[in-house]
Amino acid sequence: MQKIDLLIHNIGTLLTMAGKNGPRTGADMSQVSPVEQAAIAIADGRIYACGPEEEVWSRISDLVIMEQLDAKGRLVTPGLIEPHTHLVHAGSRENELSMKLKGVSYLQILEQGGGILSTVRATRLATEDELYEKAKTSLDRLLLCGATTVEAKSGYGLTLEDELKQLRVTKRLHDTHPVDLVSTFMGAHAVPLEYKGRADEFTELIINEMLPEVKRLALAEYCDVFCEHGVFSVEQTRRILQAAKDLGFGLKVHADEIEPLGGAELAAEMGCISAEHLLAATDAGLEAMAKAGVIGVCLPATSFNLRLTKHARARSMIEKGVPVALSTDYNPGSSPTESLPLVMTLGCLHLGLTPEEVLTAMTVNAAWAIGKGEEVGTLEVGKRADLVMYQKEAKTLAYLPYHFGINHVDTVIKNGQIVVKHGSLLYG
Ligand code: NIG
Ligand code: FE
Repeated sequence: MQKIDLLIHNIGTLLTMAGKNGPRTGADMSQVSPVEQAAIAIADGRIYACGPEEEVWSRISDLVIMEQLDAKGRLVTPGLIEPHTHLVHAGSRENELSMKLKGVSYLQILEQGGGILSTVRATRLATEDELYEKAKTSLDRLLLCGATTVEAKSGYGLTLEDELKQLRVTKRLHDTHPVDLVSTFMGAHAVPLEYKGRADEFTELIINEMLPEVKRLALAEYCDVFCEHGVFSVEQTRRILQAAKDLGFGLKVHADEIEPLGGAELAAEMGCISAEHLLAATDAGLEAMAKAGVIGVCLPATSFNLRLTKHARARSMIEKGVPVALSTDYNPGSSPTESLPLVMTLGCLHLGLTPEEVLTAMTVNAAWAIGKGEEVGTLEVGKRADLVMYQKEAKTLAYLPYHFGINHVDTVIKNGQIVVKHGSLLYG
């Protein structure tokens, strides 16, 4: 007989995010589908029933309920989806802070052999176990902030063996940690020092050796490229993405972050699932993305940390029909933070999004940006029971970005299991 493994009742406000089954833009981004005095019944890790408490009780009236959780009037949302991290790496780069304060730019630091390349040196020297332990600490932090699915990119190895090392760590985390991981190969993250001045040759290495081997070992679903002045040109990016597409990878691109190279247009041309950063994307680029259905992943913690006064034009994206997602971009250089609450606040204050648009960007649209929209991102019957319950104080959605710099998460449920309780990890 069907049984209910967990019944969460007495939910003050449940934001189900139910609505259009696909990435949302325009007015649809404001739809959070609230239910007051709600309940959620979970069976086999999935949502069996959810909605007004009385309706849920009547739907499960003849079923055995194994466990009950009184939400005590709290706010509940879907588990947050983190669609863009550089999770697996070694070392840290606090030395760049004083350079930044002296006015040295991100690309200048990279040009001098620092930045991404300094993390490449540390990552090449690290063992798989060391990478695993460090990444696990960060994944725990993301989980404590409410993330239940996280994308992770390689790109600090830049040799076949060192890229595979990073990707194996991502797989091991996916297999051992409650959070689900989505793996992206990003061998085209920087041109390593041994290929300095020979970016075309490194591009060939990625196409001919790295991509086929990553595919053969099934270590990544997506391929991403840092398309930027002094890194990979639009033409090199196109070649890498085409090769990845031919092998069956989904495509992503770090596009128009610093200079308007035409990365947004390229994302549309190549049929990328998402384009990231986009601070310098032109109107034509955003319009092409809207037409091609490319999701714009905005990274406001990165522009904040790089001390940029310009931010991604998320409002224009929404007006033009680009679905917007938000992410920490967690990495040791441009965005050393796992703080999803900070991203919520910057999404409002720097990008001009409403709290409702921010939540859509961090649940539904983030899920579609990593191809998981059918499974997660909303709380609807049949979807995975991944959800977040907030502290008593945070009664409304707007409270989350408003009371900033604070993590308001109380409880996280992943696949129907309580993995965070009263702000502490409970799994393992
Ligand atoms: O998304 N822009 C390129 N890649 C990362 C930064 C990586 C790093 O600085 O280590 C980003 O910002
Ligand atoms: Fe990034």
